[in-house]
Amino acid sequence: MALKRFRMHIRIPRGWEISDREATPEHLVFGRRAALKALGAGSILATGALPAAAQQAGAAPPLRDGIARNEAYPGVRAITAEREATTYNNFYEFGTDKGIFRAAQRMPLRPWTVKVDGLVDTPKEFGIDDLLARMPLEERVYRLRCVEAWGMTVPWIGFPLSALLKEVGVRSDAKFVRFETAALRDVMPGLRQSWYPWPYIEACTVAEAGNDLSFMVVGAYGKPLPQQNGGPLRIHQPWKYGFKAGKSLVRISLVAERPKTFWEAIQPSEYGFWANVNPEVSHPRWSQASERLIGSGERVPTQIFNGYGEWVAPLYMGLQRERLWA
Ligand code: MTE
Repeated sequence: MALKRFRMHIRIPRGWEISDREATPEHLVFGRRAALKALGAGSILATGALPAAAQQAGAAPPLRDGIARNEAYPGVRAITAEREATTYNNFYEFGTDKGIFRAAQRMPLRPWTVKVDGLVDTPKEFGIDDLLARMPLEERVYRLRCVEAWGMTVPWIGFPLSALLKEVGVRSDAKFVRFETAALRDVMPGLRQSWYPWPYIEACTVAEAGNDLSFMVVGAYGKPLPQQNGGPLRIHQPWKYGFKAGKSLVRISLVAERPKTFWEAIQPSEYGFWANVNPEVSHPRWSQASERLIGSGERVPTQIFNGYGEWVAPLYMGLQRERLWA
């Protein structure tokens, strides 16, 4: 309610109102080589070995070797250049423009824990490295379609959300999964914008969470997921608009009631709970019929369910009366 009163006086700027020129693409490599160079550990490169002691404080260690690509979900489009995908981001905790990657580097990725709790048989708190060691990591090339009508295609590394939920056991009275992003006041300047309903909350149904496409992302382009893309752990459900993909998660809760999500709390007439991609249902302020590909700038037609209908359409049988498309 306080938020509504505020909105009468303060105009909340939105990402799509910011021109692309304000984003500052930069030749940045966030990978292991750069980290090693910064550490002056060039000789280690020759052997490929990285002693634990050489890890920069707060940095994520390299992912394990031999993570294979799962070809079941073809990316279809050309993969977006790593530089583009890691320098053109939405992460409002660090600011409302697309060039937050610099500010995001201040967020330490270690130590990091994620709690899985609520209506589960055994609530657990996982250290991220323990989780990475336990989970069946694979690479999946998924498209990402932002509600702002741009898209990219990224080789993500992660594991099915269902594998994590199996670890805790979902009770039959759980109906929704709630994803909570870290709220770190010291490193996230966006949190000072107190009219936003922090922390960033997203959610889906238990049935959606159980769909094999629901992917917990821990890496991209063969490397640990960088801060600006939601490292060390985010959710990605590629048939939904990108705002459903909560980043840098610290808590995943199984609940009975449908959670109020971040954008829904801010503007329910524009951002709904389901947010499935549909070219025929316009956003109140722009068309969703096509999207601009980040990198090439090419404009391509948008597909229903972002092209993943074959896997997810059955989830919505009988729900036609719901506002599934916004
Ligand atoms: N998660 C948090 N915590 N905060 C955000 O501002 N933005 C969302 C989503 N997840 C956002 C977030 C939006 S609008 C999009 S399109 C995607 O992240 C963008 O992911 P990317 O930067 O990896 O492309």
